[in-house]
Amino acid sequence: VSTAAILTAAGSGSRLGHALPKALVPVLAVPVVVHAARRLLAARPAGLPLAALVVTAPAEHVAAFAELLGPDVVVVPGGSTRQESVAAALAALPPDGIDVVLVHDAARAFAPAELAERVVAAVEAGHDAVVPGLPVADTIKRVGPGGDDGRPVNATVDRAELRAVQTPQGFTRELLERAHAAGADAPATDDAGLVERLGLPVWVVPGDERAAKITTPRDLAIAQLLATEEGS
Ligand code: C5P
Repeated sequence: VSTAAILTAAGSGSRLGHALPKALVPVLAVPVVVHAARRLLAARPAGLPLAALVVTAPAEHVAAFAELLGPDVVVVPGGSTRQESVAAALAALPPDGIDVVLVHDAARAFAPAELAERVVAAVEAGHDAVVPGLPVADTIKRVGPGGDDGRPVNATVDRAELRAVQTPQGFTRELLERAHAAGADAPATDDAGLVERLGLPVWVVPGDERAAKITTPRDLAIAQLLATEEGS
């Protein structure tokens, strides 16, 4: 089985409050997108390194990303949404010989290599769409209309049934391409959502708290802590 990965890094990351796009923000002097790519490339699904890695970059930063990531990584300009970026990266994969595709957000830069390995192993075991997910620690309530002065609670959701879903998500190439083709006009917040829309099963494997998304300055501080702990 041959695996390729798509790393989405074309967002602006405006909530970080940094002048640079999020993927270029340094953590211990190494840009976020390089942290993410290194961990993906260290994964050894099926005893093999990735056969290809395609990264989406903001259009004006494609050359800078290519220089940072080196000649073995393909960098393409992203689209105006994450979903369009993934579709653009899918179109840039090698035409033949790729059976499994991982889709990962550069914003989850500290997702360990083992997480990618766990997801690919589940795809290889016969699940065509696999996402990592963590149990939810908070009590979750469904609320009605209102504002900061109060909203009515309509229901408490049984949290035992909930998972907070992360990336990398893994798919057979055939299914991921079909899901993106079918869902091109209807946005979903993750790739697995497009598979669900086809009425096909998606499986959850255990996630990892190190795969949390870097969104706010607080998340960046935690990322710095993780990088210090790991020594890179
Ligand atoms: O904005 P958000 O954090 O949800 O983005 C998730 C991931 O998708 C990030 O890694 C971001 O760089 C990427 N993205 C992209 N193309 C876009 C928007 C976001 O590749 N147009």
